[in-house]
Amino acid sequence: MEEKEITVNVKKYNEKDGAFWKSYKLSVDKYTQMTEVLRRIKSEQDPSLAYRASCHMAVCGSCSMKINGVPSLACRTIALQATDEKNEINLESMDYYPGVRDLITDIDVFYDKMYKVMPRLVADNSVLSGENEQRMTPEDQTEVWKFEECIYCGLCVSACPSVKEDEKFLGPAAHAKGFRFVDDERDTKRQERLDILMDSAYRCTSCYMCYEVCPQDVQPVIAIKKTKNYLDEYKGNTAITVAARKHDDAIENLIASTGKIKESTLFLKSFGYGEAMRDAVDMLKAGKFKYAFEKDSKVKNMDEIKKLMGEKK
Ligand code: SF4
Ligand code: SF4
Ligand code: FES
Repeated sequence: MEEKEITVNVKKYNEKDGAFWKSYKLSVDKYTQMTEVLRRIKSEQDPSLAYRASCHMAVCGSCSMKINGVPSLACRTIALQATDEKNEINLESMDYYPGVRDLITDIDVFYDKMYKVMPRLVADNSVLSGENEQRMTPEDQTEVWKFEECIYCGLCVSACPSVKEDEKFLGPAAHAKGFRFVDDERDTKRQERLDILMDSAYRCTSCYMCYEVCPQDVQPVIAIKKTKNYLDEYKGNTAITVAARKHDDAIENLIASTGKIKESTLFLKSFGYGEAMRDAVDMLKAGKFKYAFEKDSKVKNMDEIKKLMGEKK
């Protein structure tokens, strides 16, 4: 089979020398996975190269790294498809997690966040004692299945900007896992789960990076959005969830009364005058204050909108 020589640039790291780049050349064919590339570099050129890999089939979640700057699984990446016009590939360890050596990071913080969401079903006592059987309908199973398929690779968390900025945010993978049980009718701890998840859900910025990088198509951002649908059922009150309730009410009332969402009014009703004043100062500084006074056109078919909103209520 035809082979091509490629150059693999690895950002190596150890405590003594810090981070530095090292390049390796080798020939690959069109089927060579990046984990095979790493195995050959380690056995043929540099025994000191450190990386993790086990299953080589996107199941164990251990070969996570940045390939050409993108959080990826090495075993799911074909070398020749990842090379640039100079036939080079750049490999680095994942962002966010502390480096251990070369491409290996310490992902304890990932597991800590996963355990915080009680990642197991808590069934009714009668089921646990064997008195009753609790079945799931195929439809309900389909709903939660997507969020069950996480392989704990940690890529979404390494790609998430909110996790890096906000210690209270549980992160995408933990939210997907947590929601999987919130939405499972067999579970008995929904309110406790909402106590853990709801405030955190509103710390996500909906940037969809987790959606982009997940090798299993778990779609954590969708789990976060669906968690917010349980806001009415959630009995707690945190500063964020109080504002979220006001925000939801304001959207509904604005649409019912004007047919559209006026952002300045929405902000005022959601966050109050103090926050609105602070926001106004930021807008002034950014030269955007004029937009708060832009004249709106009237919505014509208000009767229909009122009917729809009435039906909704
Ligand atoms: S959508 Fe939310 S959870 Fe996903 S990467 Fe962006 S901020 Fe993080
Ligand atoms: S949700 Fe996806 S990207 Fe995140 S840890 Fe699970 S499998 Fe990996
Ligand atoms: S080696 Fe198991 S997921 Fe890549």
